[in-house]
Amino acid sequence: MPFDAHGHLIPGTLTPPREVPASIARPPYVGLSAPPEYTGDNTYTEAEIDKIRAAGRIASRALDAVEAAIRPGVTTDELDAVAHEYVVSHGAYPSTLGYRGYPKSCCTSVNEVICHGIPDNTALREGDLVNVDITAYLDGFHGDLNRTYRVGAVSEEADLLIQRTFEALQRGIKAVAPGRQVNVIGRVIETYAKRFGYGVVRDFTGHGVGAAFHTGLIIPHYDSAPRFDDVIVPGMVFTIEPMLTLGTHEWDLWADDWTVTTRDKSLTAQFEHTLVVRENGVEILTLSE
Ligand code: MF3
Ligand code: CO
Ligand code: CO
Repeated sequence: MPFDAHGHLIPGTLTPPREVPASIARPPYVGLSAPPEYTGDNTYTEAEIDKIRAAGRIASRALDAVEAAIRPGVTTDELDAVAHEYVVSHGAYPSTLGYRGYPKSCCTSVNEVICHGIPDNTALREGDLVNVDITAYLDGFHGDLNRTYRVGAVSEEADLLIQRTFEALQRGIKAVAPGRQVNVIGRVIETYAKRFGYGVVRDFTGHGVGAAFHTGLIIPHYDSAPRFDDVIVPGMVFTIEPMLTLGTHEWDLWADDWTVTTRDKSLTAQFEHTLVVRENGVEILTLSE
């Protein structure tokens, strides 16, 4: 039902809101139509970085739990339940729940959905791709990551898209160094993606993260120079989260105001980490171990 006669996704049905125990601290935007303005910068003390890492570890382990539940027939809402239960049972808040009105505890983006797919009654089919994006909020700080998974066996072109999108994130991470401008990251990612003729999504980006879910710092995944000239410094925290497509970088937005698809309905993949800049490179803050 949540796929049309061509096999493309169509909106499904949502379950009622999942509950978060009253003992778990909510981020300040919950219940508001938009977050309060963030006035801090994008660099953090070691004590703050420890807190972002603790949140990021919960998000990563929640994603591991979701991964174990992915199989043909599982619905994206069932995956949301796994993410939600893992995050709240570890004392954290699922940051997407109530963020600008977003209704669920993770994003599940299937096939041609670039990002921000809402978990619903869509039952995954053998050969589908599903990206799951989880952000956890703990002790005042957010950690944000996503990965793209195969549902059973997928086509070779889909398999390669996933492998190369993963590699694009690794290359973006390796490009980070103090003294460079953030636009170096997208230059490296786009150069790599263009070897394969992939579309590189421009209008959804990496971002500063930590004390706020999105701090205002933008990290493009395409070559944006001379714009986006923020200088990378030690202690800076942001995400890198490239979205690559088998076709266009152009997108459409569903009537739910969240789900972003490729305009040509080509397949798309994404990987994301939250990282902190170190003197000699980066430390990833969204690891399971
Ligand atoms: N986690 C996503 C990101 O990487 C943001 C999701 S916001 C939502 O920035 F509201 F769509 F969930
Ligand atoms: Co992000
Ligand atoms: Co994310």
